Amino acid sequence: MLSNAVVALSFLPLTFAHFQLNWPAARGFSDEIESSFPCGGFDDVQQERTDFPIGGGPLQLHMEHSQTNVAVYMAIGADPGDGFNIVALPQLQVTGLGDFCLGSVQVPEGLNVSDGTLATIQVVTNDHSGGGLYQVSSFTCADVTLVNTPLSQSDFEDSCKNNTNMKVTQENIEGNPNGTSTDATSSSSTGSAASPTGTGAATQATAVSWVLGAVGLAGIALL
Ligand SMILES: *[C@@H]1O[C@H](CO)[C@@H](O)[C@H](O)[C@H]1NC(C)=O
Ligand SMILES: *[C@@H]1O[C@H](CO)[C@@H](O)[C@H](O)[C@H]1NC(C)=O
Ligand SMILES: *[C@@H]1O[C@H](CO)[C@@H](O)[C@H](O)[C@H]1NC(C)=O
Repeated sequence: MLSNAVVALSFLPLTFAHFQLNWPAARGFSDEIESSFPCGGFDDVQQERTDFPIGGGPLQLHMEHSQTNVAVYMAIGADPGDGFNIVALPQLQVTGLGDFCLGSVQVPEGLNVSDGTLATIQVVTNDHSGGGLYQVSSFTCADVTLVNTPLSQSDFEDSCKNNTNMKVTQENIEGNPNGTSTDATSSSSTGSAASPTGTGAATQATAVSWVLGAVGLAGIALL
């Protein structure tokens, strides 16, 4: 009995939610199957799509681990299956729990999209709860209609909130959160990989910063 309980407890982290996507509306969410590629177990395209601005729209997430790697992918078409081969936002690392908004995720330049093009947005996260021994990623998809019209200010404010403790701690991390090499990224965030010469920090500070802005860059320099 006791050993069963211990076994059950040791698997608990697997059943915790990793994150939820609140805007644009996700296909669905289920703790048990969120780790199934490509859309957390929801294979059917939504009847009701959300209009998503081509020039950039927010993704409102709710983070349920204290540290998470996130990337955003896109697929064009009415029912793209698992063809999420467009990187809309390269992998970043966020620290904090609760509301986290990626302020302006754009359709990458050079794609043949226009007002009315159907697309699906896929948000992928990793999971650190296994201490590096195993990895369970999470997948969530939202079906959208791409539009030229930007969100109104009030719609944006309704759909883009950050909890006060949210912090983007790394950007432009190579690879996918659902890959197998997350230990490298988590160790570099503790400073061990960046410390030897200082050039690592300089490189990071000059890398294209998508969300951090001046404040975030100051944060990176402190690492
Ligand atoms: C929330 O933080 C993200 C990442 O730093 C940023 O892109 C977004 O614009 C912020 N949203 C608001 C409403 O401040
Ligand atoms: C772009 O998409 C439109 C509508 O789907 C199609 O008619 C057109 O041929 C495409 N153009 C290119 C260059 O692929
Ligand atoms: C991770 O997700 C991306 C985007 O959907 C996908 O292209 C890739 O095949 C996945 N990789 C693994 C190892 O699951």
